[in-house]
Amino acid sequence: MRRKIVAGNWKMNKDMNGSVGLVQEILQSNKLFGCDVCIAPAFPFLSEISNICESTPIKVIAQNVSEKDEGAYTGEVSLDMLKSVGVDGVIIGHSERRKIYGENDEVLKMKLDNCLKNDVEVFFCIGETLDVREKGKQNEVIENQLSNTLFDLKDVKLDKLVIAYEPVWAIGTGKNASSEQVQEIHHHIRRLLNLRYGKLSESIPIVYGGSLKPNNSKDIFSCPDVDGGLVGGASLNSQAFLDIISSI
Ligand code: PGA
Repeated sequence: MRRKIVAGNWKMNKDMNGSVGLVQEILQSNKLFGCDVCIAPAFPFLSEISNICESTPIKVIAQNVSEKDEGAYTGEVSLDMLKSVGVDGVIIGHSERRKIYGENDEVLKMKLDNCLKNDVEVFFCIGETLDVREKGKQNEVIENQLSNTLFDLKDVKLDKLVIAYEPVWAIGTGKNASSEQVQEIHHHIRRLLNLRYGKLSESIPIVYGGSLKPNNSKDIFSCPDVDGGLVGGASLNSQAFLDIISSI
């Protein structure tokens, strides 16, 4: 059985009070989660939110991490720094990082290598643009995104790896991929993981992200190759996030 996961990516939203308030609302619901739950607040609040989440079922993850270990890299945050404030994992390769901040496969590969070696939860985001989808080339693009990064690494530990399929055209647009589209591409990703890692691949969760909302999550989560979700906008509202979690 693969584990199921729902993660909330708060992106550059909420200040200190807003972040603390949101996590407290989630915890106060006292719901027993039927899956792993992660939240990704902004960097300055990770320490405080990690303290609040200690001894709760919620894991705290970062939205990004440097590929460097330490040194003169102004504005960067290393994995050791994140671990020292209790962070359990990181999101790597979100399309906003790739597109707006120019993160390429070479950098993503270094980040993956570093994080997987260090035994932290890794949400590795892949997904095609609208242009690629319209040309019907999504399977090829997904394969390249994996081959140029993750699949090129040797001796990686896979037990903390989560693949997040996030079609760029569905992120923040209110237009989610249909459950048929999601199932088809998750199945493709599962096949690629199997070709690369064999039986070991069977435990790697593949989650979907892109305009997940309480009114579409149940349908998408019911696909056989979908193991959960990475939620952006809807994770900023505690009730919507809890509803998505309970629809798994
Ligand atoms: P969204 O974002 O749910 O707001 O579309 C998803 C994501 O970027 O991870």
